[in-house]
Parts: sequence; structure tokens; C-alpha cells
Amino acid sequence: MAMSETQGATAPKGPDPKVAVRLENLSKTYPGTSVPAVDGLSLDIADGEVFTLLGPSGCGKTTTLRMVAGLEVPDEGQIYFGDREIVITERGLRVPPEKRNIGMVFQSYAIWPHMTVEQNVAFPLKTRHMGRKEIKDRVANVLELVGMPGLEKRPGPLLSGGQQQRVALARALVTEPRVLLLDEPFSNLDAKLREQMRAELKHLQQRLNIAVLFVTHDQIEALSLSTGIALLNLGVVQQRGHPRLLYEEPANEFVRDFVGKTALFKGEVRTSNPSGQVAVGIAGAPDCVVFGRSYDPDQLQEGRDVYIAVRPEDVEIMPANGEKAPSGMTAATVTSSLFIGERIEYEVDVDGQGNIQVYGQRHTPSEEGDRVWLKIRPEGHSVWASDWSHVASVDEDP
Ligand SMILES: Nc1ncnc2c1ncn2[C@@H]1O[C@H](COP(=O)(O)OP(=O)(O)O)[C@@H](O)[C@H]1O
Ligand SMILES: [Mg+2]
Repeated sequence: MAMSETQGATAPKGPDPKVAVRLENLSKTYPGTSVPAVDGLSLDIADGEVFTLLGPSGCGKTTTLRMVAGLEVPDEGQIYFGDREIVITERGLRVPPEKRNIGMVFQSYAIWPHMTVEQNVAFPLKTRHMGRKEIKDRVANVLELVGMPGLEKRPGPLLSGGQQQRVALARALVTEPRVLLLDEPFSNLDAKLREQMRAELKHLQQRLNIAVLFVTHDQIEALSLSTGIALLNLGVVQQRGHPRLLYEEPANEFVRDFVGKTALFKGEVRTSNPSGQVAVGIAGAPDCVVFGRSYDPDQLQEGRDVYIAVRPEDVEIMPANGEKAPSGMTAATVTSSLFIGERIEYEVDVDGQGNIQVYGQRHTPSEEGDRVWLKIRPEGHSVWASDWSHVASVDEDP
């Protein structure tokens, strides 16, 4: 794996007016624990960007957000907002939370139930001693912005979950922050509403052109909303980049398996190019060779056993029309089929491979026990070194 893909200690770059949020080598270990919650994290977020921290529970997402907000103190590192120094650990410099000019929304609806919508949204402005007229105008504007015009007088408890999160968002935006911090803001909403809020947030963010640091463990949310993602595990960035990069060119097996699904086909290296392109002959299918990329091509000499990771949508399944699969295809037997509406999810026992999951179209269903052919997209996969030929059972998990 190339070092540039991973998080290492990076040389300090300092403040930069064009970078809305810059985190430099941030680390934090909670008292009484030995493993860092966040370990050497660096990233830049520009105005107009939605940058997402993605990763499993406990990987350090909330800790990072809280350090940016000023609710946690890093042990090491620097934080800059544009050309402003926010945290410089070495000098003991720390701008207090209320002076950072950020908006925040958390997972739990943090609106005050004993207040009306207007009172909730106006609160941050009142603490800043803004005039009545200006508060009224700003509240009306921001409620319009989040799609709740005219609901100023509605009491908190009479709002739906989605409306409560809109109010929380309005309250975070009413001070016109340059940076918006969102910690799993939609995870308490049902699936339909979550989808809608996702689309709304994207529009809103594009209109406001502010920097958003978004935290989620939901990869669909991350892939669909973000201009950039950092995938964290155990407090360390595993890969950083555009959603497409993480999906199509995962830097390591953690990224590959966390973002999206993969079918792992066993194969053998036919040719390996120093640029990282590897041709792989699929095991059990003499006439099927597909291409993928590797971050470690030097390791993949000709003849070596490998896995090629294929996204399920890159495999086409069709009824077998004869004994031998044609060139570019491999043969399989359907072991289970699951109708889920938009597609059918099949488990297929691939000749010379073992069980693999693929997706099929509902208009051309196959049944359990049917012989099928699989056409693997000829290129665009990722290739991983493995010693699978020494694994006793082909059905065992890699
Ligand atoms: N106040 C705390 N004291 C001790 N450990 C904590 C505290 N908050 C979080 N942690 C630990 O730090 C790690 C990262 O937690 P967190 O940032 O909340 O992760 P995430 O938001 O990704 O789920 C976890 O191992 C968690 O148990
Ligand atoms: Mg969290």
C-alpha cells in the first residue's frame, strides 16, 4: 500500500485562508485508557465541501468532532479555521468553544422540549445579545431554509422526529457559521425520512457554501453526501479521498470490506504491470481473465494465487446455455435466491471457487439449483495477495 494513501505523521502546514478547517496530527487518549481514541489525524476541509468521517462504532469519530468543537482537548496537534489558530497544543493555545463560530447537530434531537420552535432557534442569537427585530428576521429566514416556514410558534413536543432535526439544524445555522459539525444527525430517523433529509442537507449545503464535517457509520450516507471521506478504524485513517476512490480503489482490506460489498474470486496472476494493473485468470474458468489494480504489484508475480475483489453489480448472472461457460465467463449453481424488490440477491456456488453473492434482475429470475453463467466485468476490480490454495476448505471465509 502506498504511504500517501494512509495516515502518517505529516509536516505541519499551518493556517491557510482557503482551508475552512485544517486538522494537523490530532491525537487524543482518554485518561484511564491506553489505546488512543484518535491517533495522528490530519485533514483539510474547504468551504463548500462536505467531508465525512466514516467508520465503525468506537473508531474515534465523535472524539474528533468534539475536539473541533472545543468540547475535548487534544493531547497533540493543531486546529485551524482558515487563517485563525484554534488549537496549538505546543503553545497551549485553545480558543473556547463559544468563540469558534461553528454550528453543531448531534444524533439525539438536542432541541429544548419546553420551548417553541422560535425560542429554540433564537437561543444562540439571544446569548449574543442580538436585537429583537434582527433575531425575528434571522429565525424566519433560517426556518424557510430548512423547509419549516411559518412554524415559529409550534411547541417542541408537537414536532415529528424529522421536524425536530430540522429545528436543530436551523439552530446550528442561525449564527451563520463557516463550519457545520454533524454527528450522525439522521440515525434516529426512519429509512425514508433519512433519505429525504440526506437530499435536503445536500441542497442546503450547496446553497450556503459552508464547510461541513459530517460523522456517520452509514456508508450510504457517506458515499452519497460527501465530497471527501476519511475512513477511520481504531482512531487511524485507513484511506482518504473521493467516495468513488474508496469504493473503486480501496487501499487495504479494511476499506474494501467496510465500503460496499465484495465478491472475492480466487485466481492466479497472469501478468502484473508495475503501474498496478494485474491480469487475473479466474480459478475454475480457464477462459476467464479479468483486470484489477493492486497497491502492491511487486508482490504479485506471474502464477501467484490471489483474490480479485469484484463488486456484486459488476457480475452479470444469466441462465447457463450449455456445459462449458463461454470465454470471459464462469459457471455456477444457484444455492439461494433472495427477492428484495429492486433486485434479486443470489448465493451461487461457483465452479472451482465456493459461494459468492451476486445481484440479478427481477425480470430474469433463476431458481435454487439452476446452472448459471457469470460474466465478470473485464476490468476495474482490485487484486489482493492471498495464499488461498493452502486453505483447507474452499467454503471457509478468507
Ligand atoms: N469520555 C471517554 N472516556 C474514555 N473513553 C472514551 C470516552 N469517550 C470515548 N471513549 C473511547 O474512545 C474511543 C472512540 O470513541 P468515539 O470517538 O465516541 O467513537 P465513535 O464516535 O467513532 O463511535 C472508543 O474506544 C471509546 O470507548
Ligand atoms: Mg460517535
